[in-house]
Amino acid sequence: MFYKADEHHGLPYNPLKAIVAPRPIGWISTLDSQGVPNLAPYSFFNAVCDTPPILMFSSGGMKDSAANVEATGEFTFNYVSRSLKDPMNISSAPHAPGVNEFDEAGLEMAPGKTVACPHVAGAAAALECKLLEIVNPTTLDGSKAPYFMVLGQVTGVHIDDSMITEEGRFDTMKADPILRAGYHDYVCLDELFELVRPDSA
Ligand SMILES: Cc1cc2nc3c(=O)[nH]c(=O)nc-3n(C[C@H](O)[C@H](O)[C@H](O)COP(=O)(O)O)c2cc1C
Repeated sequence: MFYKADEHHGLPYNPLKAIVAPRPIGWISTLDSQGVPNLAPYSFFNAVCDTPPILMFSSGGMKDSAANVEATGEFTFNYVSRSLKDPMNISSAPHAPGVNEFDEAGLEMAPGKTVACPHVAGAAAALECKLLEIVNPTTLDGSKAPYFMVLGQVTGVHIDDSMITEEGRFDTMKADPILRAGYHDYVCLDELFELVRPDSA
């Protein structure tokens, strides 16, 4: 099948997010301007580059996480292992601003080192970030997309020591991430393999 993206696909559900999948989940912790912690998952999330290390998440409308980053200039990415799937899901509920989702989800907070906002104690990893910019994309017809892409540079890296292998690598299989597929689907990893890039001819 083929369809033009500005026409209807004819399927019962939009396939786009199932095609660009699985996506890592950026579980974003922030503080609001009153200092109340906030935590929510974002799967329009990724690393943009590694030197310097820059992450982004994209907010449909100016949700609390993006508004908090705009107000404070900081956020932290928390790693979502399979063992944390239920608290992650609880934290996605449409809580009112000022509600601490760490409490709602029964999660312990650990203090930031380079940012004021806390992270999820016991997460396999957490990446503290400082805001670079918030991009509100202009579409082909010149209108503004109702999304805000928050770009932050990583300033601090927490890793659970038990996730480091004897060879000194972050152990992805042990960290056991859940990844967002389309619809309400998630996937987990069942195999890790190495593929070394060929030398240039
Ligand atoms: C796995 C998962 C991924 C999500 N990804 C996004 C996303 O990329 N962008 C978005 O705007 N909302 C996303 N949501 C919905 C937000 O988590 C939800 O609206 C949440 O209440 C926002 O919280 P906040 O207002 O405290 O930032 C996602 C929800 C789940 C469960």
